[in-house]
Amino acid sequence: MPSERSTYDLVIAANRLPVDRVTADDGTVEIRRSPGGLVTAMESVMRDHDGAWVGWAGETGDAPEPFDDGGIHLHPVGLSAEDVAFYYEGFSNDTLWPIYHDVIVPASFHRDWWQAYQRVNQRFAEAVAALAAPGATVWVHDYQLQLVPAMLRRLRPDVRIGWFDHIPFPPVELFAQLPWRSQLLEGLLGADFLGFQRQADARNFVRACRQLLQARTKRDLVHVEGSSRTVRAAAIPISVDFKGLERLAKQPEVMARSAQIRESLGNPKVLMLGVDRLDYTKGIRHRLKAYEELLVEGRFSPPDVTLVQVATPSRERVGAYRTLRGEIEQTVGRINGEYSRIGAPAVHYLHHSYPREEMAALFQAADVMLVTPLRDGMNLVAKEYVTCRHDLGGALVLSEFTGAWHELHQAFACNPHDIEGLKQAMVRAVNTPAKDRQRIMQALRRRVSDHDVQRWAARYLAALRSAPDRPRLEQVADAPAAPDPQAAEASPDPVVAP
Ligand code: ADP
Ligand code: G6P
Repeated sequence: MPSERSTYDLVIAANRLPVDRVTADDGTVEIRRSPGGLVTAMESVMRDHDGAWVGWAGETGDAPEPFDDGGIHLHPVGLSAEDVAFYYEGFSNDTLWPIYHDVIVPASFHRDWWQAYQRVNQRFAEAVAALAAPGATVWVHDYQLQLVPAMLRRLRPDVRIGWFDHIPFPPVELFAQLPWRSQLLEGLLGADFLGFQRQADARNFVRACRQLLQARTKRDLVHVEGSSRTVRAAAIPISVDFKGLERLAKQPEVMARSAQIRESLGNPKVLMLGVDRLDYTKGIRHRLKAYEELLVEGRFSPPDVTLVQVATPSRERVGAYRTLRGEIEQTVGRINGEYSRIGAPAVHYLHHSYPREEMAALFQAADVMLVTPLRDGMNLVAKEYVTCRHDLGGALVLSEFTGAWHELHQAFACNPHDIEGLKQAMVRAVNTPAKDRQRIMQALRRRVSDHDVQRWAARYLAALRSAPDRPRLEQVADAPAAPDPQAAEASPDPVVAP
């Protein structure tokens, strides 16, 4: 049953709702959890807040009626087949996604994609404007909705508008390639407060405003030309629901399932695990290459060592994703053909989505978690892994190119481009004495437990609600540099000496 209310004091807008509606050929409707870290984080935040969530329900055509799920009011926005092709697969995931992730694959630029992006952003802004109570707080999410803040401000100047960037914000040299770069910046500057994963992302945004809009800037503030407004861009790194996930991981059924997983894999001495959307940013090819070389060199061999790679299907109609899937599956086939024995595969490749309980059991079963992205805004999988290791077992191999690494320095760090270095990190993760690994795990867990998603949301909303109504740049220009609370937040705990 949809809730009876017509307006909300807190409205969030994200491209996806937390659940997808999937209609089968026989007309039956199934509700499935949507993929990705944004949904994982915001779903746990919204369970504690009374608010509405505006987003796409995952099917083409007219928007379904609003509905409630898990205590959250969900308000679907409809996308036509052309909107999905041009706005979602095209502009969002074949133009912005590669530009914002270091152009790991080339970006495509099409004017009709841009038209669709504007059109759909306007639709989201109108849906939010209709749902927001007078003076409401509106929290817009991610790269798919960068025009919404300015569009919404025009429709509803009374509401307070925040935007959070779940992915990296690119250096100006890359951002400048976008033919619509000024419009994107102006769209974001419609917000009262802009949140980023890392200080470097916030700085990239401020620099882009200075260089591409000739905006006046001071530290983390950008003056909006032609108005008296100043917008703050700051780092507030996202996190996971530490308490909730730890509770789940401690359930006897989850722990039993974890033991069962190990057993069904033949109780390997070392179980390595990768969990990613099948995305070229995640460094899955680099991880497989390093693993294959360790097998070739005889430093790892099944059944003592095995790798489970969970690769969730993602954006399967976008060319680069189709190509990646082909490459990964070919590589897995080659490795297994060469190094598996009967009953002891070198790589277990799983192209499915699993319930949270199964993911928690997998994390607990894994001796070494491989998180090797070439670029990632945060990577919640890394934080979920350490959250689930209440037994202090396991070791995290973590790419320096993730947001998570800026908080989890104690992990076994790697540069995934450096295959030799990645191999060494994997071997070190296996060979480090258990008591040292436990100390590292304790430090990682402390960081995530002290900086969980509830704290992230509270800090974000406090920063948004306290954003000055009309600050003038001159008023802050000569003030002494205030210590940046985000900087302290983002700096890692000292490494615990073994
Ligand atoms: P991204 O948002 O880029 O996908 P993150 O690591 O930040 O990357 O978040 C991924 C989220 O999706 C995590 O919460 C993770 O547990 C979840 N996830 C990844 N793969 C699966 C899967 N196969 N089944 C269920 N959940 C998954
Ligand atoms: C990342 C993005 C999210 C996105 C998710 C899943 O986490 O930051 O905005 O929802 O990936 O991708 P998808 O394209 O399936 O929504």
